Amino acid sequence: MKIILIGFMGSGKSAVGRPLAQALGLALIESDELVLRKSNRSSINEIFKKDGEARFRELEIAAAKTLRHTANAVIATGGGAVMNQIILSYLKNEPKTVIIYLAAAFATLRRRLRGDQKRPLWADTRQARILYQLREPLYRHYADITVNRDKT
Ligand code: S3P
Repeated sequence: MKIILIGFMGSGKSAVGRPLAQALGLALIESDELVLRKSNRSSINEIFKKDGEARFRELEIAAAKTLRHTANAVIATGGGAVMNQIILSYLKNEPKTVIIYLAAAFATLRRRLRGDQKRPLWADTRQARILYQLREPLYRHYADITVNRDKT
């Protein structure tokens, strides 16, 4: 079985992915880690700063492509995975794939990510809110299951 976790920055994709993968006896694969490995950079921030967001997205697509035949895993995507249709089609390639949307209000995410320095697209809260509004319907569109994470 393949479980794909989608959701905005701070929704808990890695935090939920870890125990979920462990409980199901599956590997946890983090898209950002694969991207980092492909990049020769030391952080996501550095990729954005030195290579630009477009390069990050290319690497994100390439990372998803390597996972298209992965049949048994929990995959924690980056928050922007829903912006490129090709990413979800690679990830959904296998039958028995379930996409779980970890949903939370923007105010919840802002509380969780207060002081975060690791996410380039979180640096400007106003821009982040616009991105959130843009992506929210996409997360819902792709999700097989939506789990509300406001109370955690
Ligand atoms: C991004 C989210 C990040 C990371 C990159 C871009 C986004 O992952 O992939 O900074 O576009 O929302 P998390 O959702 O794990 O923070």
